[in-house]
Amino acid sequence: MGNEIRGHVPVLTIDGLSGTGKTTVAAQMAQELGWHVLFSGVLYRYLAYVRSGRMITDDDFLLEGDVLSDLSKLSCRVSQYGDLIVLLGNDNFTKLLHTEEIAKQASELAGCQKIRKQLLTIQRMMARSPGLVAEGRDMGRVVFPGATLKVYLTADEEVRVQRRFNQLNRTGNDVKIAQIADLQMQRDARDLKQAYKFQPKHAREIVIDTSEMSITEVKATIYESLQQVEAPVNH
Ligand code: DC
Repeated sequence: MGNEIRGHVPVLTIDGLSGTGKTTVAAQMAQELGWHVLFSGVLYRYLAYVRSGRMITDDDFLLEGDVLSDLSKLSCRVSQYGDLIVLLGNDNFTKLLHTEEIAKQASELAGCQKIRKQLLTIQRMMARSPGLVAEGRDMGRVVFPGATLKVYLTADEEVRVQRRFNQLNRTGNDVKIAQIADLQMQRDARDLKQAYKFQPKHAREIVIDTSEMSITEVKATIYESLQQVEAPVNH
């Protein structure tokens, strides 16, 4: 699995809860390394969006036909502030997918093991040469267990709430910080079920508390570990 089944393509996994900085770190590192990038949360958000329009329950939701082909066509780039911009063909899905309602529905839908299983193939296909940075909740534990380096980002709850609040404000969502704190607590409780259980003694697994770190410092820590586990890093 991971780099093992994909012929030694290097894979860097970056997992963590919302607001830990994983999206920005993953996006910048993928660009600097010249690697592909997988923002797996976007897949769950898109499925939640499609499901809400079709009024179907989780168990009936099989990935087939249009939905399946849409998932592989979703493309992401990152704004100068580190926010994800999601496109499907010429349609911009950024606003639709980044509401708190879709975040909640995505997190609920993500509890459905049948759907998680169906997403495995799509995610693993992203491990292509010269390398992949995969960001999410279960990248290191489930999707790419053979990853070159597995990073788990953490941050204090208040810091994560503030970051999320700033992000939603930037992207035009009118929200109150108390409301974000509340929703985030509920989402954390669900998402922790998928979260990666790290083994800090393992050289290929690191945990970084980003509460008081800049993105540059977080990246520097990861680059240092990458160099220790794998020689050819071209940044
Ligand atoms: O990273 P995000 O906030 O865009 O993710 C949205 C939801 O999708 C998140 O609350 C939990 C779920 N998710 C998941 O279960 N596994 C992943 N690898 C990525 C996201």
